[in-house]
Amino acid sequence: MQKSDNTRPAPEKDALGSHEAPPAPTDSDLTAQIASALPSGYYAKDRGYAKYFHGRKEVLSLFARLRADARQERPGGQGTTFLIQGAPGAGKTALLYRCAEEAEKDGWTVAEINSRALYDPATMSRCLGKPYVAQSRRTLGAAWFASLLRSKTVAGIPSVYHVLKDIAPKTKGLLLVLDEVQRIGSLVSHQRKADVEDTLEQIHNGGVGSPVILLAGGLGTSEDALNSLGISRFYDGCVVNLGRLSPEPERAIIRDWLAQDGGAKGDVTPWTDAIARETHGWPQHIIAFAEPAAHIVRSNRGQMTPRGLEAVLRQGQQRKENYYFARVRKLEEQDRVVLGRALSTRSADTSFRGSEVLGIFSGEYSRAKAERIFELIVHKGVLARTREGRFAVPIPSMHHWLVDQYRRARTQQHDIGL
Ligand SMILES: Nc1ncnc2c1ncn2[C@@H]1O[C@H](COP(=O)(O)OP(=O)(O)O)[C@@H](O)[C@H]1O
Ligand SMILES: [Mg+2]
Repeated sequence: MQKSDNTRPAPEKDALGSHEAPPAPTDSDLTAQIASALPSGYYAKDRGYAKYFHGRKEVLSLFARLRADARQERPGGQGTTFLIQGAPGAGKTALLYRCAEEAEKDGWTVAEINSRALYDPATMSRCLGKPYVAQSRRTLGAAWFASLLRSKTVAGIPSVYHVLKDIAPKTKGLLLVLDEVQRIGSLVSHQRKADVEDTLEQIHNGGVGSPVILLAGGLGTSEDALNSLGISRFYDGCVVNLGRLSPEPERAIIRDWLAQDGGAKGDVTPWTDAIARETHGWPQHIIAFAEPAAHIVRSNRGQMTPRGLEAVLRQGQQRKENYYFARVRKLEEQDRVVLGRALSTRSADTSFRGSEVLGIFSGEYSRAKAERIFELIVHKGVLARTREGRFAVPIPSMHHWLVDQYRRARTQQHDIGL
């Protein structure tokens, strides 16, 4: 690691030509330093496609197996739904992209769809890249007209099921990618519900007649949303509750940001170590530190200085706290306090049964209100489902933050333990 800090102005010489000792940087110095190192128009790239993707090997191999299974000509074997659910920042969208890339390389056709495509044939066909015109009217003129009007012309072919069956691309298989699937319940009107259920059922149970996988990503309430639309049973392993990354991919991501994005010169291990101590394998956190780190290193011509690292840690910490606050913003103060106190009696890696979590709030509120709060907490990712189907705060430092912030708040309530 370099000893000098190129991001600060060189110290002025005094009359005798010796260097004055630079004043110790204040907090606001460091904050200003990192702010000036970030270009104008800068925004945090802590969502979506991963510039340097690592890890998730288990999920990717499971997904490869599903693709292979979907090509088996056995009844019900040609379709399935693969759901990746988890708290915001767990890396769902990044993983969907990765799965899509792998499927494409493997010869599948990939189409990104929205909820509307599940009940509206014209939308589905547009998502598949084809203006949709009924068989009986498939002439050049009609196709042109349909695309011009972004047509809803679906006469003669009444359902999304038919689109998938008749005009789905004839490749190894079709992968439909639907992100933010938890919204589906509220977006689909009552009238459309039966159509969506029908489409999901045809895909899920291999009724389309050719290999189709619906790859869905969404928050922790997604499985419930899909259940409410008729998918009651997923095949074994087809619901992934996405958690933290293990240390090796975590470090690989940090290294890539420093070395490839930042152009770091020299050994990146000390910075990687320092950042990895703060990130807990949580993708949002990793990017919250690694991305400003790359900026600082780049603006410092590849040099990694102690002061630069300090600024990075400060910036990352700030982003972590913003992220935690966003998780609880929709909860009332009183509910945060109840939660903070309940968590304070347990260590950060504890998991709870759903009924235990409900119990915390039903001591305070009616059962219906307790259920609403519980759902919100899972929806916002304050608690995430574990692989065993229990619930836990997904990041230890978020557990500590919740306890620190809210346990001691002065309220009238009695103590409630889990
Ligand atoms: N496996 C991974 N490797 C590298 N970066 C990742 C990985 N998973 C997520 N990220 C990055 O972490 C951030 C949060 O991930 P994202 O997919 O947006 O989370 P979610 O969709 O669950 O809210 C994004 O910047 C994303 O690119
Ligand atoms: Mg996402």
